[in-house]
Amino acid sequence: MPYRSLKAPLRELLYRAGKIMTGTAFTVREKGDAANLVTTADLAVQEFLVRELAVLFPEAGFFCEEEDLADTESEWRWIIDPIDGTTNFAHGLRDCAISVALARRSEVMLGGVYAPYHEELFLAVRGEGATCNGRAIHVSDRPLSHGLFCTSLPIYAKHLARPCVALIEEIFPLCRDIRRTGSCAMDLCYLASGRCELYFELRIYPWDCAAAYLILEEAGGILRTLGDTRPPLNGPAPILAANSQENYRRLSALVARHIPPAAQ
Ligand code: IPD
Ligand code: CA
Ligand code: CA
Repeated sequence: MPYRSLKAPLRELLYRAGKIMTGTAFTVREKGDAANLVTTADLAVQEFLVRELAVLFPEAGFFCEEEDLADTESEWRWIIDPIDGTTNFAHGLRDCAISVALARRSEVMLGGVYAPYHEELFLAVRGEGATCNGRAIHVSDRPLSHGLFCTSLPIYAKHLARPCVALIEEIFPLCRDIRRTGSCAMDLCYLASGRCELYFELRIYPWDCAAAYLILEEAGGILRTLGDTRPPLNGPAPILAANSQENYRRLSALVARHIPPAAQ
């Protein structure tokens, strides 16, 4: 399958999925505890994408956040977060996005992130650069002192908050400011677009970051897990990202100092 030819159909599917996400009334349910939400819109978007993508590329399996669709073995896989930023969505905050990646084994080849309320669609094909609404995007060249640091506390592992707070406390005086949007996919696309410069989160799943990972790399940025290795595409991992090697090096050193191996 020439995956490059899937870029245009993926864009159209993301636009249609965005209409499903924003166009209908939804209900909210807790998945185990009050911090872990799913809405009927998450389920409807995922169902739509799985149905359409299976027609587009029948050889590929699915690794999705909802409904236990967790194929981690197939050579080609769609990795889907139907709504990244579900808590924002459920509360009426507008930083939330649909994230779809196509991976071949451990490499993301195609990625799309669509934030319907902002009308921004980020797309990348491996080796072909990254775009936002069709325009090429690139990371900024801001140093840490002039940069924005995007991060989050581990909402699904709240007992691990303390080292993350210590990290934030140390970076805060070194950078321009801190941001927490509530959507990993959007944070990473904002980094790719030159709007912020650093990102760290302790526990991120492939569906949160796979599409934005490619978008960021194609925009000139860096994304790694601990030990300077590529993040796994089959399970959660700490994620560090930056606009430049220098900022990545400084972030890695700070993370190594604050995040003990037991917290990872
Ligand atoms: C979450 C968002 C959030 C991040 C969490 C993710 P969800 O995804 O990306 O920014 O802090 O770690 O789980 O649950 O809204 O799809
Ligand atoms: Ca997510
Ligand atoms: Ca989600």
